[in-house]
Order: sequence, then C-alpha cells, then structure tokens
Amino acid sequence: MALIIKRAKFLGFCEGVKRAIDLTEQALSNQSSKKQKSNITVVGELIHNKQVVSELENRGLKVVSAVEEVKPGATLIVRSHGMPKAHIDKAKKKGIEIIDATCVKVKRLHTITRILVEQGYDVVLVGDHNHAEVEAIVESVQDNITVVSTPEELKDKKFSKKIGVIAQTTQSEQNFIDVVTNLLKISREMKIYNTICNASILRQNAAASLSREVDLMVVIGGKHSANTKRLAEICRKNVETIHIETGNEILPENIKGKKTIGITAGASTPSWIVDKVEEKIRKLSRSHNPSKK
Ligand code: F3S
Repeated sequence: MALIIKRAKFLGFCEGVKRAIDLTEQALSNQSSKKQKSNITVVGELIHNKQVVSELENRGLKVVSAVEEVKPGATLIVRSHGMPKAHIDKAKKKGIEIIDATCVKVKRLHTITRILVEQGYDVVLVGDHNHAEVEAIVESVQDNITVVSTPEELKDKKFSKKIGVIAQTTQSEQNFIDVVTNLLKISREMKIYNTICNASILRQNAAASLSREVDLMVVIGGKHSANTKRLAEICRKNVETIHIETGNEILPENIKGKKTIGITAGASTPSWIVDKVEEKIRKLSRSHNPSKK
C-alpha cells in the first residue's frame, strides 16, 4: 500500500511572523535600492528558523545579541516576540530608527500585564523561563510578576494579593488550564486572561487531531521555537513523533513500516521547507518500496 501523507489543517507561518519577515524584507530592499550598505539590525533571531534567518543575513540583515551592539544611525527591527520598552527607548536615544514588528497579540499581552499591575494584581505569567517574549514582559513590569512553566512550579509559591493570570502567546492551552486550576486552590480572587494566540491554538488543535489518525508525526520547525516544541509535545502524547528543522534529518528508519504519516509545522516555518520535507519522505518511501515508483 502506498504511503499516505497528511498535513495538519493549520500549520506553518502565522500572521505575526509573516509581518516581521515582510517588514524586514522591505527595509532591506529600500536600502539596496538606494545602493546603501545595509545597517538593518535585529537583536536575537528575527524568527526561530535558521534557514529563513540565514537567507535574510545573506541579503544584509545583521543579527546582534544585545541592544548595546546596535550602531547609532542603524535601523532596528523589533522582532515579533517584542522587546522591553526600556531597550527600545535606549535605542531611540542613540539615534537608531525603529521598525516595530512586535506581533499585535504580543502587544495585547504587554497591555494586559501593565493594566493588571496598575490594578494591584500579583501577576502570574504561564510561560517558558528564558523565552524572549517572557523576558520582555518581565523586564517591562519588573516586580509583581511570577513566571511559572508548569503547575508543579506553583508549589511553595505564596501570593499575598489578588492574582492576575496571563499566558505566553504560544503556551499549550491545557498547561494554562492546569496552572489556573491549581491557582484556584490558593487564591481567593483571580482575574484570568487567556492570552494564548489563536494561531497557536489552531495549530495545536489541528496537530492533536491529526496525531490521533497517523502512525508517525513529523513536526517541522526550529529546535528553539517554543511553539514548535509545544506541537511536538502535544503529538508525542498520541503517537511516535519526530521534531526536525529540515528534511535532511529524516532517516529511513523513521518512516520504515509506517502507513500514514502526519506533518505539522511551527509558526516560523515557511511552506517551502514543509514541501521539501514531504518530498524527502516520499523519496525515502519509494526507496523502501521500489514498486511504488
Ligand atoms: Fe503572533 Fe501568535 Fe504568531 S503571537 S507571532 S500570531 S504565534
């Protein structure tokens, strides 16, 4: 029987990532049309996809690790994860032009956090420690915020005041629900904002439902991409799952004996990478079953 490959109903690039790439490409084209040497800079990876970032670097994008490294006169792209306002202000003072590609959903999360702090809530942010989006939120409000990545991390935590709960935009809905459920046991008053973005929810639900129908799930996206890792975790609960960045990582033994394979991709994965992965799976399958050529 020929191998059946199914793609998740929702996968790959989200609106926020598309916008960040469009704005960066536009800025790079503007400079090259003026025959200027590129000074378009981003702090950290523009998106969690090495292949896309290295293509933009080839076109002149500079990637630095801290705002202090951005040169006066340069143009700074604020990536879709956002940046603390203090860093943006520091850059403006140095005469750096800002192109703000912060996703609108991340901006909403910043606004809600600020309002909760102003209203006197102890904020609990359900998110990954050390993730750029989470760090930007924490730096923006400084105190009155606690980051928890799992319900277990609530153990021994004490909240003196009323609690405001929010989530990193790419969190798994179930993890958010689990943390909220546990918080209910220790809080008398809570305000809950589900700030998980719709693009994440659609991709997670589509991946979960496809993973129940197939023998193997292939999840494509950056190894550091929070939303891709989340998709892999969700699929792994239902079926054997591999998380890869490109088709080169798929081995013949991964697909051996599989009748149906599902594919999904994180919000930073372009469609051309998804196409190449599917092509590679088909090629490997043909080499296992030469009669199906
Ligand atoms: Fe924005 Fe959601 Fe994408 S927060 S960057 S639309 S995954």
